[in-house]
Order: sequence, then C-alpha cells, then structure tokens
Amino acid sequence: MPRRDLPIGVFDSGIGGLTVLAALRARLPRESFTYLGDTARVPYGTKTPETVRRYAEQVTRRLVSEGVKMLVIACNTASAHALPTLRLAYAAPGREIPVEGVVEPGVRAALALTRGGGIAVAATEGTVRAGAYQEALRRLAPGVRVEARACPLFVALAEEGWTAGDVASLTARLYLADLPATGVDTLVLGCTHYPLLRGVIEGAVGPGVAVVDSAVATADAVAASLEAAGLLRPPGAAPPTVRFQVTDGPERFARVGSLFLAEPIPEVSLVDL
Ligand code: DGL
Repeated sequence: MPRRDLPIGVFDSGIGGLTVLAALRARLPRESFTYLGDTARVPYGTKTPETVRRYAEQVTRRLVSEGVKMLVIACNTASAHALPTLRLAYAAPGREIPVEGVVEPGVRAALALTRGGGIAVAATEGTVRAGAYQEALRRLAPGVRVEARACPLFVALAEEGWTAGDVASLTARLYLADLPATGVDTLVLGCTHYPLLRGVIEGAVGPGVAVVDSAVATADAVAASLEAAGLLRPPGAAPPTVRFQVTDGPERFARVGSLFLAEPIPEVSLVDL
C-alpha cells in the first residue's frame, strides 16, 4: 500500500483522546485512523515520567508495527513526558514518521486568544509537574504570566459521564473559580478528558476567561505536518477506515467512548502490548 494511504496512529491512555480523534476526522475527512487506548493502564496522569514514557513507547511500537504514516499523541501527559523521545525515535531520517503531540498546538491556540492578561492551564498532576505547558508558553511568549492547576477529579467525572450537574459544577468551581481574580484571561484545557466538562468549566471561570480546547489546534498541526511531508491522501482515494483498539475493557470503551466521539463505536479489538 502506498505510504500516504496508511492510517494515522492516534493514542491515549484511554478514551480521552477520542476528543482529539473527533477533531482530526472533521479536519481530515479523507484520512484513515487507528486509535489505541491503553485502558488497562489509565490513568497516566498520576504516574512517574519514566513509566509514562515506557508505556508510550510500547503503544507506539505497536502502532508502527501495524503500519501508520504519522503518530498523534492524543494525551497531554504522554505528550509532556514522551514527545521528544518518540520524535527522536520515529520522525528522524530513515523512518520519517511525523509525531505530533497536543501541548504545543494548545499553547499556540491560547496565545492567539489572550489579550495579555495571562494564561492558565488545567491539566493532570503529571502534566502540571512536568511543566510542559509552562515551558512552551515561556518559550513561545517570554514574559507571559502562567498559572497551572491540577484538576485530577475531572478525569474521573468524564469517565463516569458526569459532565454536567451539581457534582461537576461544584468540582469545577473549587478548582477554577478564583482564576479571573488572578487576572488570567485564557484557560487551556490541558487534558484530553476536559473538553467534555467544557460547559461547567466555562461556568466556573465566567465570561471573562476564554476556554481553549487543543483538539482543533492539534488537528490543524497534523494537517500541516502531513502536507509538508507529502503524506495527505489524495481526492478520490478509497473510503477511509477507522479502527479502535484497547488494552482492556472493549465494551466499556465502546459505551463511554461514544460519548467522547459523539457517535457510536461499533467494534473495538483487544490488544496485548
Ligand atoms: N488523557 C490524559 C491526558 O490528556 C488524561 C487521563 C490520564 O490521566 O491518563 O493527560
């Protein structure tokens, strides 16, 4: 099969990356995708950088062995800990598989929106501790004020489908309601689960803070990368395919994942890494 007809490999610790897959499919409707959710080992957000890197390398090896033309790390924690290692291993001459993460696209989208008041990022403990957003913001916009907040309960709420209502609203308020008083005017959702709670998050921070989801910005970055590498599928190519794989609980993934993707997931295979 010509390289440009291969699928794009997308991975996450579980189902959260489906929010990124949805944006990728909307932006690149001719492309095929293979999604791998490491549901046996979710969450990554509370694990050490070394462990997350090891998991990300195993998932990537699997996707590459199946044949993918590009890799998208649709997980902030894995992007924060493993993007440089994976780029070095796969994007270099010889293999030339472009690797994109979600952190830098999210940062660029936030910088396009801020009116200079400062940017906050809400993310898992691991992503906040890794400082990936803080580093990218300081590198791309030295002098910008950055607030980072770990919001670990958001992942559990999203996994339960409790994305609105009293518990979700109160949790969002406890984590984030003081942000406007710090002068921040933009909030990046630095975790792929958080877009599902966007309504309660926007309610907590109020209308003075713009909320940024990195999924659309990531899809734009992936499209640019494929174009630069001459890897876009041409018009008239065979209809695209989307495959789903998980390391545990395919039925649960199909059920909860359809919420994330906003469409039914008909078939999910179980893989052993
Ligand atoms: N997908 C992860 C992220 O974006 C959140 C879930 C986890 O902790 O694994 O950071």
